[in-house]
Amino acid sequence: MNVHDSEKIAGIFSESGYGLTDTVSDADVVVLNTCNIRHKAEHKVYTELGRLKLAKQNNPGLKIAVAGCIAQQQGASLFKRFPHVDFVLGPGNIDKLEEWINGRSKSTPSPPLCFAKRSSGETRGQVTALRDNLDYHTKTLPMKREGGVKAWVSIMYGCDNFCAYCVVPYTRGRERSRSGMDIYDEIKSLAHQGFKEVTLLGQNVNSYGKKLEETADFPDLLKLIHDIEGIERIRFITSHPKDMSEKLIYKMQDLPKLCEHMHLPVQSGSDKILKLMNRKYTYKQYKEKIDMLRQEIPGIALTSDIIVGFPGETEEDFKHTMDALSEMEFDGIYAFKYSKRPDTKALNLPGHVEEKVKSKRLSQVLDLQGTVTYKKNKVLEGQILEILVEGPSDSDQDKLTGRTRTNKIVNFCADSELTGKLIKIKVLDAKQHSLYGEIV
Ligand code: 5AD
Ligand code: SF4
Repeated sequence: MNVHDSEKIAGIFSESGYGLTDTVSDADVVVLNTCNIRHKAEHKVYTELGRLKLAKQNNPGLKIAVAGCIAQQQGASLFKRFPHVDFVLGPGNIDKLEEWINGRSKSTPSPPLCFAKRSSGETRGQVTALRDNLDYHTKTLPMKREGGVKAWVSIMYGCDNFCAYCVVPYTRGRERSRSGMDIYDEIKSLAHQGFKEVTLLGQNVNSYGKKLEETADFPDLLKLIHDIEGIERIRFITSHPKDMSEKLIYKMQDLPKLCEHMHLPVQSGSDKILKLMNRKYTYKQYKEKIDMLRQEIPGIALTSDIIVGFPGETEEDFKHTMDALSEMEFDGIYAFKYSKRPDTKALNLPGHVEEKVKSKRLSQVLDLQGTVTYKKNKVLEGQILEILVEGPSDSDQDKLTGRTRTNKIVNFCADSELTGKLIKIKVLDAKQHSLYGEIV
């Protein structure tokens, strides 16, 4: 989500005549697109802002903007802590950057957004961390997308679920869906530019369309997009288990461009913890959905998110999570230590778990999943799979990289002319994080 927001930010700068540079010393403007989903991500931003103070001392003309969820949550208080910051904008206000840059570059007075007064009474930085910018989600912003083969497309913003640990509903606001036609037009234009794969983005894609006047739900949107010529593969993230419907499963069967992969965060295997998390499903209900997906869509890859050390998580609760991971055998997971987030319900729950216990549980989870993922990948050795070629591999520029329909990375030796093509490869060697293959 944040990477895609950065593409929108880069797109706005590009339209205004700016180019991207790798080093701060070459930059006229630095934008930090921030995330505060966990404490670690937030801490990194403050360290970076500290470094930028020095950069501004060396180049007083340098403008610094803070975008994203930290900007939304901290608002004008960022100017107090970091007086070298010039502009603060929330994730629903990326379009306001255009006014800011163009206001600046034409040397006209800055647009009258919302000025933050500093304690001296001097008006300096601007803050536009408004919660409800109704324009934003109906607009298609210019975007500077990387690669030219696969693209992210936002279909909705915000979230109404209020999971007890999660800051997203406070930083990204309530759920809003983009109109089906806006999404269709954006993807049609991507197909025109040669993109082959789209990933539809939302915090909870399965509730797409709930507040729209038009009556389309998520499976209907998938059907609409499926008809776009030139787009060969469609993916989506993230699905909330409580909203993942049978209708979606049947759509995945019917629409061949929909890839056989679903990211379905379970978070915990303990019903007590799931309830405290406000997830609105039990482990049994979750497992039934997984079973149905595997039965109806043979070969589907399933990935998930796990949080360890949520307040109140005992050894027994944690064992339920470990048992769940062994039972469900996900293709991969993202696992996190619970991190205290401002405003969230979990902050005030009793039974916060000690850091060292969280760390131990996290490594147990990762060890177990590592074994499962490796075992699942090994089964693929000798199989012939379709991959979409993305270009040179990051880790070895002599090889190309692509992904299977199940979202597994495959590296192989071939000519870079194949970038953007769907090809068949035979898997020769499977590792935990990637496969190695040869063209058939
Ligand atoms: N602590 C730890 N993990 C979190 N996530 C969200 N909020 C927190 C938090 N406070 C994880 C969840 C979610 C993923 C995007 O990030 O697992 O699915
Ligand atoms: Fe956060 Fe829960 Fe919404 Fe996901 S569904 S963004 S975890 S509140």
